[in-house]
Amino acid sequence: MTVQQSPLRELPGDLGLPLIGYSYQFASGRLTASHRWWNQYGPVSRTRALGTTWINVEGPEACGAVLTDRDRVYDASGWAYLIGPFFHRGLMLLDGAEHHRHRRIMQQAFTADRLAGYLTPVNETIAATLARWPGGAMRFYPAVKQLTLDVATRTFMADDVGGAEASRVNAAFTDSVRAATAFVRMPVPGLRWARGLAGRHFLETYLRDRLPAHRTGSGADLFTALCHARSEDGDAFTDDDVVNHMIFLLMAAHDTSTSTLTTMAYYLARYPEWQERCRAESQALDSPEVTYADLDRLVALDLVMKEAMRLVTPVPGVTRRTNRESELLGYRIPAGAYVAVHLWGVHHMADVWPEPERFDPERFAEHRREDKAHRFAFMPFGNGVHKCIGLYFGGMEIKAAMHQLLLRYRLTVPAGYRMPVDWVSLPRPKDGLPIELHRL
Ligand code: HEM
Repeated sequence: MTVQQSPLRELPGDLGLPLIGYSYQFASGRLTASHRWWNQYGPVSRTRALGTTWINVEGPEACGAVLTDRDRVYDASGWAYLIGPFFHRGLMLLDGAEHHRHRRIMQQAFTADRLAGYLTPVNETIAATLARWPGGAMRFYPAVKQLTLDVATRTFMADDVGGAEASRVNAAFTDSVRAATAFVRMPVPGLRWARGLAGRHFLETYLRDRLPAHRTGSGADLFTALCHARSEDGDAFTDDDVVNHMIFLLMAAHDTSTSTLTTMAYYLARYPEWQERCRAESQALDSPEVTYADLDRLVALDLVMKEAMRLVTPVPGVTRRTNRESELLGYRIPAGAYVAVHLWGVHHMADVWPEPERFDPERFAEHRREDKAHRFAFMPFGNGVHKCIGLYFGGMEIKAAMHQLLLRYRLTVPAGYRMPVDWVSLPRPKDGLPIELHRL
């Protein structure tokens, strides 16, 4: 709809403190993981944070409308403001015809055949890592973050895992991701923004050094797949494209899977009946590692994964920028506005999800399907043209890891323990998630 069909309402909202607005709440993630705007102003409102004005979009209707973007108003360049210096020209930051062209090429690296090929190094890396875990009391989050990095190192780049260089890669990613919500958005030495830029520089050099070998190689890794990918029209990526996409993909795959695995481990430890149910399914496969065909047989684990992503949404919000003045649910949206789409909020709405704070994986089971209450009730992987290209890879890695973990260990947390979540950038436990692994 265009603005000619007005009268449109002006946006409600408040700009917060002079100059800084709601920057602190925004940077700490407290606004993305709250119902504040919805409760106070409804589905569309405006505020000020991180040096600009934001349109807050809440609820399935408004979030769905922005993501499906029927009128091509909402550009992904909204991301550029937050993460552009660190992840520029990653697929998620491209728009229009260019995005479409790159996505069609990249799709060739995510076909079912490719995914089945990636599963071998995924399984091997998980097995090798879990064999090194001593069991007993541990901080789950840092250990699983290292695990997903090792999986990416092997599966994406066919590089060896472990050692100082892999740790540097891990640190570079963390710095780049966390820089997105930097309060001071200029390179002051020692602060988040500067660390993010240094991380990006390290990753570019690291990948560029390795690019020639992957261009000429025939490995089954993602790096090689991107070097050789051709769309149906014969289009291919340049060297710069490959480096930019690799940096974005490593980031996109890494923290999201880590966050989801951590939330799943937490809830499985708190709800032993679900843990037993998932373990029984894994034991029924009678195989230490899952095959591609096995993945669909881990039904309970799939329910738990969905419920974990609903409760602690790994990407709690996404952003866009309007390319012209437009309308959303009867409100006038100005041109050039940054838009924050609150996915976490959609996943916690009581009129869509009964008892939204309760861990209840069964709500996704066939006989209930609460996720069908609204077309846009459940969007952990987004929606529309930018919907996650790695959702099957992510699900595969998460299930492969959980399958092996549950076959080896019983997971427990202390009675009464509740995981405190840090919402800066992607959600993670403030205390690293202290968990006990009991060898079976
Ligand atoms: C639990 C795991 C994951 C979650 C929750 C997740 C979530 C998301 C979300 C919400 C978006 C949409 C962003 C937007 O609309 O602006 C997205 C996009 C994307 N994701 Fe994922 N992701 C996950 C795993 C992965 C993995 C494993 C990969 C790659 C191997 C990946 C690659 C991408 C890419 C390339 C995009 C951009 C797609 C585009 O713009 O066309 N993601 N992801």
